[in-house]
Amino acid sequence: MIDGKKCIGILTSGGDAPGMNDAIRAVVRTALHNDMIPMGIIKGYNGLLEKNYKIMDSASVSNILKKGGTILFTARCKEFYEAKYREIAYQNALEAGMDGLVVIGGDGSYNGARYLSELGLPCIGIPGTIDNDIACTEYTIGFDTAMNTIVEAVDRLNDTSQSHLRCTVVEVMGRHAGHMALNTGVACGAVAIVTEEAPLDINQICERIFHAMERGKHHYIIMVSEGVGETERMARDIQSLTGIDTRASILGHVQRGGSPTLRDRVVASEMGNYAVHLLAQGIGNRVVAMKDNKIVDYDIQEALQMKKGLDMNLYRVMEEII
Ligand code: F6P
Repeated sequence: MIDGKKCIGILTSGGDAPGMNDAIRAVVRTALHNDMIPMGIIKGYNGLLEKNYKIMDSASVSNILKKGGTILFTARCKEFYEAKYREIAYQNALEAGMDGLVVIGGDGSYNGARYLSELGLPCIGIPGTIDNDIACTEYTIGFDTAMNTIVEAVDRLNDTSQSHLRCTVVEVMGRHAGHMALNTGVACGAVAIVTEEAPLDINQICERIFHAMERGKHHYIIMVSEGVGETERMARDIQSLTGIDTRASILGHVQRGGSPTLRDRVVASEMGNYAVHLLAQGIGNRVVAMKDNKIVDYDIQEALQMKKGLDMNLYRVMEEII
């Protein structure tokens, strides 16, 4: 409590994702609207350890809807694996007057939220990662923007690939999840999509290239999820087995930047608002999620145990429309 008002901390943790700023804005503005004090924590959980936080007002989140990255900065905090540091963070949060905390990040970040909730600080997780790899939710903030960035990049690669009658192997992010590779592969007309969940060996990839060739195609995009690895080698092997001039293109961190799309702005605003309403009711240890296109919440522990697979129907569709 600060001056008799509930105070809500907010931090971003793990890899940044477009739309995080929109969620921060929604948390800050919803807190103010409900007569609570929002406190921004700098650089993820590190800010709690270093007592690096500041009270935010409405103007502090002006004009950030369209901004990529996170105005609160982010980090992966190794100290949080140790109980003694979590206890320090908890004590610092209490001393600063925080009655609750919103954590925007991936499921690694939810563990910290769960521990702090167990210590007595109600925490709410909001799914923010381009990977869409959080099992409890159909959608994570940043997924749509990152995929649109990939589509734009691959459309360009396609132009040069077509001009030179080449094959281009494109590696996209996603850590160990192939959601981005699958969706963007369909959207960009890839002749093969290779993910950890649905791997293809080099002969199967070449078969798909020859299959497309038989149907009159002269250039080929192969979409590979980063967890598969060895993208450069895959390109070399394709060239030597097919005789087609082949290049590898690893898109890298460009996928994480940029102005959020409409979808990310809207979902982030809804989730930020929802998180503050949970904390206002004194509810903690929950993660906000999307189910059947609606915003819902789950117990963090339960959420962390859920499993999510690739959309195999989309895979099937892709195989039929190469
Ligand atoms: O989780 C988001 C993500 O961009 C993954 O797709 C990728 O594997 C990872 O983060 C990269 O992390 P870093 O920015 O620390 O290199």
